[in-house]
Amino acid sequence: MPFPLHRPRRLRQNPAWRALMRETRVGREHLVYPMFVQAGGARQEIASMPGQFRWPVNELVEEARRLHDRGLAALLLFGLPESKDDQGSGAWAENGIVQAATRALKRALPDLQIITDVCLCEYTRHGHCGVLRPAPGGVEVLNDPTLELLARTAVSHAQAGADMVAPSDMMDGRVAALRRALDARGFQQTPILAYAAKFATAFYGPFREAAESAPQTGDRSGYQMDMGNRREALHEMQLDFDEGADILMVKPALPCLDILADARRRFDIPLAAYQVSGEYAMIKAAARAGWLDEARVVRETLLAIRRAGADMVLSYFTPDLLPDK
Ligand code: PBG
Repeated sequence: MPFPLHRPRRLRQNPAWRALMRETRVGREHLVYPMFVQAGGARQEIASMPGQFRWPVNELVEEARRLHDRGLAALLLFGLPESKDDQGSGAWAENGIVQAATRALKRALPDLQIITDVCLCEYTRHGHCGVLRPAPGGVEVLNDPTLELLARTAVSHAQAGADMVAPSDMMDGRVAALRRALDARGFQQTPILAYAAKFATAFYGPFREAAESAPQTGDRSGYQMDMGNRREALHEMQLDFDEGADILMVKPALPCLDILADARRRFDIPLAAYQVSGEYAMIKAAARAGWLDEARVVRETLLAIRRAGADMVLSYFTPDLLPDK
């Protein structure tokens, strides 16, 4: 072949060509914004997540209104209850924090889609994602007794008006348990966004500060996935698919682009990726030190996550990608 037959640079000569040739895009229609809601008080900035806050319900609604006016399509809600107990009963309380926030948001902004995170770790005193039992050398999180509590939580979110529920606990069989419970209560149309391949990682560190949900003893490696496992991630996703998940999520995002690409080849339902708190904190810290161009790096990471196969991305940077009003 005579050498310069193919010259990829021909199509990079001007912004118009580059835009026409671009294979992947990221915009507000691909993004979901995770927000933290607390009972009362004034909003509090999260130290390890600059620019992110814990919001009381009334201020949450006002912030959501500003973002919705700029084109925000959907929120993911995390709750910080007033008090915690061993079971995590605040998770399914009729007047729990997520339930109250969901009702207020749906009343004020009916078109803004509300996704609720379904887990117990923010509501249990011990900080684990399920029912705990002492075990030799530590504690054990019981799988099957946890399912009923998660199902109850999901139903209470749906009753409060949640448009979608997102189980993040990593118990086996929870998608089936949620589907059954939702259907039995008349919520056949409420989709389940499953945190299907959720890895145990230090990248959740800032979130645990935000949600005060770090486990008091032990860690989450008995239920969240091992970072070394790529095949197992597909197995986990297949199980959630078979149990009726509507959307499969990979988490964290940037450290798991291979998993996303694998999943894109195997599954024909929508895929989500969660750019988690630690990914946010890294970029913020480097930008604050003057070492990275934050706006460009944010776009590039989101684009890479989309390129790997995610239809939607859950990201704390979402407001930065909304057009200014
Ligand atoms: C609750 C939950 C966590 C995250 C989302 N849902 C924390 C955890 O599993 O420890 C992490 C989100 C983030 O780091 O931004 N189980």
